[in-house]
Amino acid sequence: MAIVRIPEQGRTLKTKEAVTEYLAGINIEYQTWEPEHPTSPAAPAEEILQAYRKEIDALNARGGYVTADVINVTKDTPNLDVMLAKFSREHWHDEDEVRFIVEGRGLFHIHPPQGPVFAIEVEAGDLIRVPKGTHHWFDLCADRRIRAIRLFQDPSGWTPQYTSSGVDRGFQPLCFGPRYFPPTGPAAPA
Ligand SMILES: [Fe+2]
Repeated sequence: MAIVRIPEQGRTLKTKEAVTEYLAGINIEYQTWEPEHPTSPAAPAEEILQAYRKEIDALNARGGYVTADVINVTKDTPNLDVMLAKFSREHWHDEDEVRFIVEGRGLFHIHPPQGPVFAIEVEAGDLIRVPKGTHHWFDLCADRRIRAIRLFQDPSGWTPQYTSSGVDRGFQPLCFGPRYFPPTGPAAPA
């Protein structure tokens, strides 16, 4: 389940209804997906894509996405810092940024034309569709782990275009992680 934080308002949204509604107000689509059949997050990419085929096809039909892949990032990924630095500055793309998280977590910051900057922390099971042109930036959480399905209208359109606004420097990439908001009961002791 994604968490939305709006630092300027001191608000944190933790329910699916509140997160979905807030994001929809900024034209960002949020869904949670279940695999059609049980699958491991470590399964081969083809198996992952197959497990979510129905949802992918539905989004493709609505968004005109023509290719899908599975990106796999770990703390041991070569040149990880260089790769992350490309996306941790405010930018936009000429096509939608569509991500379904298979494993791990990540933090999007969104800078809407009207309204305050806010953060969306996504984890396994979360689908987010950020429309083209939306100003945003992205960080991994402390575990530096994410595996995600990506959908593209044209992969070449996904090059970041930087705003150079410096707005991103005013926001710490803070992830809460699952222990802050466990599904039931208090977090387990360390
Ligand atoms: Fe991006």
